[in-house]
Amino acid sequence: MSCHCGGRAIIPAEEYSLATMSIPQSVDSVSADARTLQRQAHKLIPGGAHTYAKGDDQYPLSAPPFIARGKGCHVWDVDGNEFIEYGMGLRAVALGHAYPKVIEAVARELSNGSNFTRPSPLEVHAAETFLSCVSGAEMVKFAKNGSDVTTAAVKLARAYTGRNKVAICADQPFFSVDDWFIGSTAMPAGIPKEIRDLTVRFRYNDAASLEKLFDAHPNEIACVMLEAEASVPPRAGFLKEVRALCDRFGALLIIEEMITGFRWDVGGAQRVYDIVPDLSTFGKAIANGFALAALAGKREVMRRGGLDHTHERVFLLSTTHGAETHSLAAGIATMQVYQEEPVIETLHRQGDRLKQGVEEVARRHGIQDFFQILGRSCNLVFATRGLDGIPSQAYRTLFLQEMIARGVLGPSFVVSYSHSNDDIDRTIDAADGALAIYARALEDGVLEYLVDRSVKPVFRPFN
Ligand SMILES: Cc1ncc(COP(=O)(O)O)c(C=O)c1O
Repeated sequence: MSCHCGGRAIIPAEEYSLATMSIPQSVDSVSADARTLQRQAHKLIPGGAHTYAKGDDQYPLSAPPFIARGKGCHVWDVDGNEFIEYGMGLRAVALGHAYPKVIEAVARELSNGSNFTRPSPLEVHAAETFLSCVSGAEMVKFAKNGSDVTTAAVKLARAYTGRNKVAICADQPFFSVDDWFIGSTAMPAGIPKEIRDLTVRFRYNDAASLEKLFDAHPNEIACVMLEAEASVPPRAGFLKEVRALCDRFGALLIIEEMITGFRWDVGGAQRVYDIVPDLSTFGKAIANGFALAALAGKREVMRRGGLDHTHERVFLLSTTHGAETHSLAAGIATMQVYQEEPVIETLHRQGDRLKQGVEEVARRHGIQDFFQILGRSCNLVFATRGLDGIPSQAYRTLFLQEMIARGVLGPSFVVSYSHSNDDIDRTIDAADGALAIYARALEDGVLEYLVDRSVKPVFRPFN
């Protein structure tokens, strides 16, 4: 069955993912059992996974549909195939899978119980540890999801300033699953226009575009939210200009450190770029894959969520599982590893090794203008371009497909503390083989080499 929308025939979502799974067993590296489980996933779970970024539409069909276990930077799929992994839990597992110091800390807490009617002392210990890392912050509140803390930051900024609008950086792909952010994406279904209109966007490295927003919405913008750096470094002075604009126009500056936190530096990108935000938001690497996120900031602002002020109360963050003990224990242990061991230095060093090796391979194949590595060494992504120089999902699919065939599973080249020289060098060898095929595809046409359909961006209005 197909439906029609805007004149195009569209396969409904559940049929899309099931239909595209029909590759012949003769060319299928995935077992029949794993395919059955994959079909089952689509019957039971919208999208077949609980996170869009892990979904089938993000990977070639030859990708392992399920990962059964991981150790360090290696993972094994349900068929027992081993891969070197990059990205690792959407950048959360920055130390490595099943990292001993973290799982030992978690195991110690499991037998003490996970959730009580009053706070656990771990809440205070985790706050102390966090604030000893992030020096610009004076208070912190923990939650389970990054989206919850970015949304809490927005709510707090609105309450503190008495304004409704939120200015976000248009060049950064994700801040929250909540309406204030998703309403600004290419997938805003279900979000009323009134809410969408409250989020306005400026360009990265373009302070003038932010100033224009302040001028266009006088006394309406409660906060400015951006990552200090994503795939492009800040132009000299840009972040200070943003800080100054916020001060001039009376908005709070929220530095979003979900990715940069505990990756750029133990103190986040705010320390690297010497910028003190009013609020900042952390998650992902903070607890090496256990569910922990943090809203941090100046006491003057954060205390509005507390018990010792006379302003109207702000329902800041309060969740049943917010202070579940084993995630706090994981967070404390992870942050201590960062403080005691050369984690940051290693992430940068191994990223540099990988970038240099893969760029050299791309040059050798003469395709350095079509396959490029972008971003800071601790957080590398790749750009895949077709002959026309435009970013291409088909070439991305081809590259992923060829890397997977060579034992590397990576939607990015984001390294962990567990990536050894040998892992990096094996990845460079895999890239050599994959980019040789990429070079041939540029000559013969990518469809000659793709086993099946292309991957697609998460944010698209229709399947
Ligand atoms: C920059 C950034 N902010 C916020 C989030 C949301 O975090 P979570 O998925 O934990 O809700 C993400 C998730 O990918 C992210 O990349």
